[in-house]
Amino acid sequence: MKVIVLFYSMYGHIYRMAEAVSEGVQEVGGAVSVMRRVPETLSGEILTKMGAIQAQKAFADVPVCTLDELGSADAVIFGTPTRFGNMCGQMRQFLDATGKLWADGSLVGKVGSVFTSSNTQHGGQESTILSFHLTLFHLGMIIVGLPYSFQGQTRMDEITGGSPYGASTIAGPKGQRMPSENELAAARFQGKHVATIASKLAG
Ligand SMILES: Cc1cc2nc3c(=O)[nH]c(=O)nc-3n(C[C@H](O)[C@H](O)[C@H](O)COP(=O)(O)O)c2cc1C
Repeated sequence: MKVIVLFYSMYGHIYRMAEAVSEGVQEVGGAVSVMRRVPETLSGEILTKMGAIQAQKAFADVPVCTLDELGSADAVIFGTPTRFGNMCGQMRQFLDATGKLWADGSLVGKVGSVFTSSNTQHGGQESTILSFHLTLFHLGMIIVGLPYSFQGQTRMDEITGGSPYGASTIAGPKGQRMPSENELAAARFQGKHVATIASKLAG
């Protein structure tokens, strides 16, 4: 059973979360996690101005996803940074090229799930995940979030991402904060949860 963890990351926060999601998927017997990126759409000049070049080197070797690959997955877990309360343009552009998968019904009945990252605590994590779900509904996917059985999302002793809609991390106003242990635990939980449900559907 193949679970694709499909992400875009500019400064590495979503990549770190994607690694944890992938670890969670691998905890489920028979599940194989496949990490994939969506293509970059910004020029090297713009990425340099945005200070993203160095951070992106860490995951430059993760292959870019093809549409055929996406269609062959049993489940897909999408990771995107927040952009003005929505998914990033790179992810949007990739999804806007999935018309053939939509027409073929390749993703109908398969599990789809989303995790995210934002700079500020209330900077649009929930809106990013929930608006992402609209596209997954159109593709016919079964939406899975992060249930409250992951109790770390109720923590009040520290600032943390994570909601019933999906795992998330708060990068800080300058992107200086990397995912906390609690946020990584949420990501692992979500990966394991999706793979468990997908394996039940496959059986
Ligand atoms: C154009 C743009 C728009 C952004 N919009 C938001 C926003 O609405 N709310 C927020 O908290 N952070 C916002 N951010 C910050 C990003 O979400 C943050 O850099 C990202 O989550 C870090 O994840 P990454 O390292 O995986 O790219 C924005 C960043 C850019 C470049």
